[in-house]
Parts: sequence; structure tokens; C-alpha cells
Amino acid sequence: MKKSFFNLLLLMITSVPASSQEDLIVNIDGRETISLNGTWNYIIDPYETGFYNYRYKERDENDPEAYWNRPVVKKKTDRVEHGYQAPYTLQVPGDWNSQRDVFKYYEGSVWYQREFDTQDLAENERAYLYFGAVNYEAHVYLNGKKLGSHKGGFTPFNFHIPKKILKSENNFLVVKVDNKRHAQEIPTLNTDWWNFGGITRDVKLVVVPETFISQYELHLSQDQNIQQAKEKESFELEGRIQLNRAAKQSEVRVEIPELKLTKSFPITGDELSFNFEVKNLDLWSPDNPKLYDIVFSLNGNQINDKIGFRKIETSGKDILLNGENIFLRGISIHEEIAQDKRRAYSREDAEQLFGYVQDLNANMVRLAHYPHNENMTKVADSLGILVWSEIPVYWTIDFESEKVLDKAKQQLKEMVIRDRNKVSVIIWSVGNETPVSPTRNQFMKSLIDQAKVLDDTRLVSAALEVGYNEEGINHIDDPLGEYTDIVSVNEYLGWYGGLPDAAQSAQWEVAYNKPLFFSETGAGAKAGYHAEKENRWSEEYQEWFYKEQIAMMKRMPENYSGMSPWILTDFRSPRRNHPVYQEGWNRKGLIGNEGNKKKAFYILQNYYNELENQ
Ligand code: GCU
Repeated sequence: MKKSFFNLLLLMITSVPASSQEDLIVNIDGRETISLNGTWNYIIDPYETGFYNYRYKERDENDPEAYWNRPVVKKKTDRVEHGYQAPYTLQVPGDWNSQRDVFKYYEGSVWYQREFDTQDLAENERAYLYFGAVNYEAHVYLNGKKLGSHKGGFTPFNFHIPKKILKSENNFLVVKVDNKRHAQEIPTLNTDWWNFGGITRDVKLVVVPETFISQYELHLSQDQNIQQAKEKESFELEGRIQLNRAAKQSEVRVEIPELKLTKSFPITGDELSFNFEVKNLDLWSPDNPKLYDIVFSLNGNQINDKIGFRKIETSGKDILLNGENIFLRGISIHEEIAQDKRRAYSREDAEQLFGYVQDLNANMVRLAHYPHNENMTKVADSLGILVWSEIPVYWTIDFESEKVLDKAKQQLKEMVIRDRNKVSVIIWSVGNETPVSPTRNQFMKSLIDQAKVLDDTRLVSAALEVGYNEEGINHIDDPLGEYTDIVSVNEYLGWYGGLPDAAQSAQWEVAYNKPLFFSETGAGAKAGYHAEKENRWSEEYQEWFYKEQIAMMKRMPENYSGMSPWILTDFRSPRRNHPVYQEGWNRKGLIGNEGNKKKAFYILQNYYNELENQ
């Protein structure tokens, strides 16, 4: 407990200028909400006419031509030049690119609008608008008033709705969404994934008591020796409760009905840390994805959640789960349903993707390169699939800029706060393939430090690049490896370097006495194209690649602790433009864009079956 209080102090010192995350509300599904998903109207606005006047000055709040204001035609002479009605509609949640051809390549501003009714708030109630994610920049208005804005396309945010703004009927909700890419943002201009725009995840109206539990965490305390705890069948849990504001003399309660356990704690301020002992706790693991129903309450106002308990740590070259050595049989995934060329967002989408993961007999997923929707980590919790979750500090962002660092830190915080109680998440990744330089090293180190301050119960890593050299010795010596808990590298020996049999002579030297994880390796193939194995893009080439890779992995130094090949399914990428084999698809999927498993899928599946039966 002392450690986390110190962490908290450090957090206050190091925390980024807050936009909204202090009162980011966790476990929205465990609260009283009204869904605002469904059909929304839209205005596509590449010239930002709804925001700026013809002098390109931001419009005043009451400007009738501002697109956040309800267009009103009082008399036939009135000139009104914007409006929200069918057929200009989009589904929320969902990206706009896959919904209408006009949006396929669109990057710019789109105004979303809908109306909603709600019951009047009681005296001791307050309301929030919650967004699971909006890519990229969102400005939110209700009844002509601005509630707030948020940047970052893959993390949640919420805004308090002042009582004087909220009406019981015909609330006029407008969200300006802009997914234009900029050098100073996270991600930056260049990514190997489609820049799907829109309100891509759930929108909810949340009604809570004036004083409520905004965030909480409950996990095995880090200080205990898990082997001893298992022998004694007595475990220490520790947790923290964050309120939206200081409470008068109140009581917080934590209940685990299945264990007939109820703990009550008095609270006066807005934050409480606690710990207590539990007997006969069933630990969570891939073989036993045990989740407990947990009830958190403040003065009787309850929040229900499902939480599992496990300890993840490293010991020298090994990754230990609940004190046992574990090998990560992983696969990388983009948050996409290839068959529909769209962003994934629903529970069904998550179950589809994890269905493929289980077919592969994988026990781990790398959710690349940004935090995926919460359905993904919830399904992983329930299926016992370990998760690597990452912020899109991808390739060459502007490492020189303090502002860019703040944006990265904000996304990191929002990612950790949302999934802090997801037992399946074992690794926070602070980035991918960022080029080595002193400025970059410093930038990435401060993200690693931030992650450890936010959460000392998980491993922290980043996908590093390998220094290939002619003599065939691959050096894993990126200076960032000094600060990460596991050393993770992406390698494409046989695709971006040489042919697959180049792996036969490859040697690997790891500069760190830490677990080694291959966060990417893979080769492209167009599903259904069969030819000699030397033919690029044939399934036989990809199959050959995986055979050679797996043979090489079996010769790896002893700290080799897992891999998450690139990638589960083909995915959309504007950087892949071969007119026959790619057509806007990155073809490194083990499953084609129509859902057909390629030959290499079975090569990896066999390897994972072998590993599991070892
Ligand atoms: C990179 C990168 C991925 C990319 C992949 C590829 O390593 O991390 O985002 O899609 O390689 O080239 O296919």
C-alpha cells in the first residue's frame, strides 16, 4: 500500500494537463445508462463551414449558421443553409468509410446529430455523455452549448452535462468529428492501417448520484509471494476507489458474494485505498478463466463488475503467471472485420475474432496498434486469452515535442484507466517500431515510467526493431530494452529481408537478461493463390515462411518466451496498392479477407498444439 500512495503522489506530480480523464468513468456497462447508439444524421463538411465563418473565424456560440445550432425556419423568407435529415444518415457506432462510398477515402470533418429524450434528473443526480471512442478529434455540443472536446481515436471520454443544459425532451446533440491526420498527433501522418473515421464505439447517457464512484481497482497485491499464498490458500487483495468529488462522511462497500465476503470502509475525501485478505481464491489463467462477480457501492449505490485475479511478473528470462512459467502463443489483431471492410466494435465482432484465435490454439493476442474496444478485453477475460494492449505511438512521431508527449501520456492514461480491472490484460505497450535516437529514447522512457506509475501490476513493453547485419547475427540491443519488462521485437526475415530460408542461418543475440518476445513476424499471401513456394503472394510462400520461422524459433536463446505473428486476418491499408495481390489490403493475414484460412494458418496452429502438449 505505501508503494501505491507514493505512486499516487508521483502521479499527481507527473500527470499530464487533464482534459477529462480525471473523471473518466470506468465500467460504463455496470451503471444506469441510456444508449444513444443507432441512426444519426450527418453533414459532411470538408471546408469546416459549420465551425468557421467565411473569414475562417470560429463561429460564435449563438451563430445560427453554426452547425451545433438547430436550424430554424420561422418564415418562408428565412435563409437556412444547413440541416440534419435523411437520407444523410450514419449508424453509430461504426466507421463512416464502410457505410457509404462517399466516405471510403474521406478524411476531414463530419457533423453527427441526433435528438434524445430523458427523464428529468432528480436533485441528487448528475448526467454525463460517454463516448467509447471517436476517431480522431471530437467537439461535443448539446442544445447549442459546448460540453467539451477530445483528441485520440481509440480511448473513451465523457463530459458532464450541466443540469441547466439538459432537457427532458428533444435534446439536440451534435458531435463534430475530424479524422484528418497531422504530424503532431498520435498516431502521426503515416500508418499501415486504414484511417477509419467516425463515432466508432458506443455513445451513452449516464445518470449517476451527485457523488459517485468514478473509478475503482481491485487486484492481487503485488508484494505477496504468490507461491506461498497458494500454499496457504490465503491471498491479499488491494484496491482503490476514486470518487468524482469529496464525500461527506460516507461508506464504501466491496462485496464478493461467491466468497461470502463484504468489506466496508468509511470515506470522507474523494479517494480511498484498502486491502484485505481472502481465502480459497480461484486464480484466473488461460486454463481457468475464473471471474468473480464483484459489487462496489457508495452509500448503497451499486456498480457490478466481473473481475478475475492473477499475478503476472518476470523472473530473469521467464514470464510467470501465478508463479508458473508461461509461453505466450500469440497472434496480432487489428480491430477490424475484414469481411465487411469495417472497424469492429460489438460483442459479436469480438467473439468472431476470438473464435479464430481459439481455432489457432493461441493463448494470447496483441491488440495492435491502439486500444481496441472494451468488448475485446471483456471477451478475452471470459475466454482466458492474455492481452497485449498498446497506444498508437507508431513509427516516426514527433519525439521532440512536449505537446506530442502529453497527447501520448493522455492516451496511455485513458487506456490504463479503462482496462485496469481487465484480468486478461498483462502487457501495456507504449509504442511500435519507433526509430532509435536519444530524444526518442527519452520520450519512450517517460511513457514507460508513466505506465508503471499508473499500474504496477502489469508488464510494460514496446515493439522494438531489430538491427539486422550481414553476418546474419541479429542484435536485439535497442536501448529501450533496458526499461521494458520484456524485450519485444518485430522481425520479417524472409519477407522484408531475404527469402524465408534466410532464417536457417540467422543468429540472435539479446543484450538483455529478460524474456524475449517476437511481437511481429509474417509474410503476405493472397488467399486462394497457389503456386511454387518461391512465388511471392502465393499461399505456399507464406506457408514456407512460417515453416522456416518456426524452425528458427526452436533454435532461439532460452529467453524466447513467445510470439504474436503478424497477423490474424488481412486488413485494410492505404499503403498496399499492388493491383492484383493487394488492392488496399495488407495480405499478411493467416485468414483472408473473406474469412478463408490460408495454408500458413495450419502451420502455426500445429506449432501451438505442439507447444501446448510439451
Ligand atoms: C510493421 C508494422 C505493422 C505493419 C507490418 C507490415 O512491422 O508494425 O503495422 O502492418 O509491419 O509491414 O505488414
